[in-house]
Amino acid sequence: MEFYETIKTRRTTREFLDKEVDFETVRRILEAGNAAPTWNHSRNWSYIILRTEEEKEYAFGYAKKVADKFDEDKYLHGYRPYPITLTQKMYGHAMPRQYSMLKNAPAVVIPVFKGGNVKLDFLSKFNPLATIWCVLENIFLAAAAEGLQCSMRIPMEDEHDEVKKKLKVPPTYMIPAFIGIGYADPKEELPEQNKADLEKQIHYGRWK
Ligand SMILES: Cc1cc2nc3c(=O)[nH]c(=O)nc-3n(C[C@H](O)[C@H](O)[C@H](O)COP(=O)(O)O)c2cc1C
Repeated sequence: MEFYETIKTRRTTREFLDKEVDFETVRRILEAGNAAPTWNHSRNWSYIILRTEEEKEYAFGYAKKVADKFDEDKYLHGYRPYPITLTQKMYGHAMPRQYSMLKNAPAVVIPVFKGGNVKLDFLSKFNPLATIWCVLENIFLAAAAEGLQCSMRIPMEDEHDEVKKKLKVPPTYMIPAFIGIGYADPKEELPEQNKADLEKQIHYGRWK
C-alpha cells in the first residue's frame, strides 16, 4: 500500500471480524515495530503475545470490569446542558468496547519496555516511553499496510501493575498499551474526529 494511503487508512478499531491473522503477518508487523527510532540504541523492549481466549480473559479482567460498568446509552443520550462533543462521542463509543476490542482481536500484542522507577522531572526522562510509542506507531501503520487494524488500551491506574503481575513482567519493565490486531469489522461506525488545521498549527520563526 502506498505510504500516505496507509497513514490515511489506519484507524483505531474496536470491532474485529472473526477471522484469524496469520502469525507470519504478526511477525512482520513486529519487525516494523523494531525498526522504530530509539533513544538509547539498545532496543530492549519485548512483546508478549496473547492468542487464546483463556490468555485474553485472564489478562484483561480489569478492562472487562471497566467496560461492563459503563452505561453507553446513558452516557451518550442522557441529559447534558450543552451539546455532546466529538470527544465525548468517541469516549462513549470506546468505553464499552475496552474489553471486547482485546478479547475479540485474534492477536493481542503487549509491548513491554524498560522504564520502571523513573522520577519524571526532566522531559528527557520520558525518552523510554517516547521510544516505545514510536514502536507502537510503526506497529499500527504496518498493520494498516497489511490490511489489518489495531485496538489500543492504555492500562489505567492499578490495571498496569495487575496485568504486569499476571503476565510475570519483570519489575523494571512497563506496559505502555495493550494492542489488539485483526481484520476490522466494516460495520463498526467509527467516531467522527476533530480535524487539525495545519494553517493554524504552523508558526514561522517564532510563536507570534
Ligand atoms: C496516547 C493514546 C491513548 C489512547 N488510549 C486509548 C484507550 O485507552 N482506549 C481506546 O479505546 N483508545 C485509546 N486511544 C485511541 C484514540 O481514541 C484514537 O487514537 C483517537 O480517537 C483517534 O482516532 P484514530 O486512531 O482512529 O485516528 C488512545 C490513543 C492515544 C494516542
